[in-house]
Amino acid sequence: MNCLTLIESKRDGQSLSPDDIRSFVTAYVRSEVPDYQVAALLMAIFFRGLNAEETRVLTAAMRDSGDVLKFPADPRPLVDKHSTGGIGDKVSLPLAPLLACLGFRVPMISGRGLGITGGTLDKLESIPGFTTQLTREQLIQQVQGIGVAMGGQTPTMVPADRLLYALRDVTGTVPSIPLITASILSKKLAEDISALLLDVKFGCAAFMQTREQARELAANMTRIANEFGVKTHALLTEMNAPLGRAAGNWLEVKESVECLENRGPNDLRELVIVCAARLLVLTGKSGDMALARAQAGDVLASGAPRRKWDELLAAQGADLDAFTNKLQQDHTAPFAMEVQCKRSGFVTRCDARIIGEIIRDLGGGRIDKCSVIDSDVGVDQIMGVGAEVRVGHVLCRIHARTQQQASESMARVQAAFEIADDPVRCEGERIACGDIRRPH
Ligand code: URA
Repeated sequence: MNCLTLIESKRDGQSLSPDDIRSFVTAYVRSEVPDYQVAALLMAIFFRGLNAEETRVLTAAMRDSGDVLKFPADPRPLVDKHSTGGIGDKVSLPLAPLLACLGFRVPMISGRGLGITGGTLDKLESIPGFTTQLTREQLIQQVQGIGVAMGGQTPTMVPADRLLYALRDVTGTVPSIPLITASILSKKLAEDISALLLDVKFGCAAFMQTREQARELAANMTRIANEFGVKTHALLTEMNAPLGRAAGNWLEVKESVECLENRGPNDLRELVIVCAARLLVLTGKSGDMALARAQAGDVLASGAPRRKWDELLAAQGADLDAFTNKLQQDHTAPFAMEVQCKRSGFVTRCDARIIGEIIRDLGGGRIDKCSVIDSDVGVDQIMGVGAEVRVGHVLCRIHARTQQQASESMARVQAAFEIADDPVRCEGERIACGDIRRPH
């Protein structure tokens, strides 16, 4: 494999042969290609793209660069969901136990947050004692036993993505649709799943800022995953305002538990139900979306997913008494300060990017891969878009480690909210209560 020839071919807009792509991935994982050549190839791909065949071959080569899970035959379909990430996006937490209660097996392998977007692993690690480091054998055994496991990639799964993603991160080559597609799908395909639900976000706090970009990414991922025999459906959902009413690792766990107790914000519950319903339809467990939604809603209301959540926590080492005590505390960060509304009217904007940046700067997110996360900080009681407010109403609450950080954040957070005399109109419709986020 001559990497220089690959770089020159891609630079000149030619396609790479399947053999070249496979040899390149193998050689890179074996440290036989220097990073500077891989960086050049990634940049050439960033500008020239990959066609469908190249993307498919790259995805397979990355998946096959390490262990691929193999589950025993079982009538319960293996499924997962992936979100491209956003602020307050905690859907995986209530969804995984709900899916297990709906008769699925869920080997949910998630990532950490980087920059302003949160990661499921960071949220889970705010639970006392909970471990996200499962071996392949533990993960398979737990999924077979209780139907669900939530952990990180094992060290031997998809090493090619670990290496390539780290290099993309520092070479400005992350926002490439074929590279994102291969990165996400190589990891999902290594889980041995038969159905996948993708939640592709668009908006000011999303990876893909416009709906059109999100649609292109969703179409690409859906086509390739289906070609691999994984029944895949993508939702396009908006990420201009935070999802739910809380953002920050522990605060999101708390809100997820509310959702599992059939309480909490409507937009979160709605998205959880739609994700579950889509997977019921995709796997043929339900004939249509209306029936599937009703089934998912009934199971959520039954309390079984809340009990499954405790089972999941216990299986992964959590201290359930400490967890229950922590849930009962109003706040776990030393300072919780209310931000009050300065004028009356309707909330027409709550900028998720600003909220995400504040949480990151409070210590709740990563500036780089070595950053240590403060899981107690964040923002909750976030007033949703469409809500009617009066002077003095609480717009949100800041959870901070120090008083100074809380005060600085309070000044910044005002800029996230826009209050107008009239409520916003959304695609010709008045938002009645502001907390129904319709999947598109
Ligand atoms: N998440 C991933 O896992 N990979 C990407 O390339 C982008 C987001």
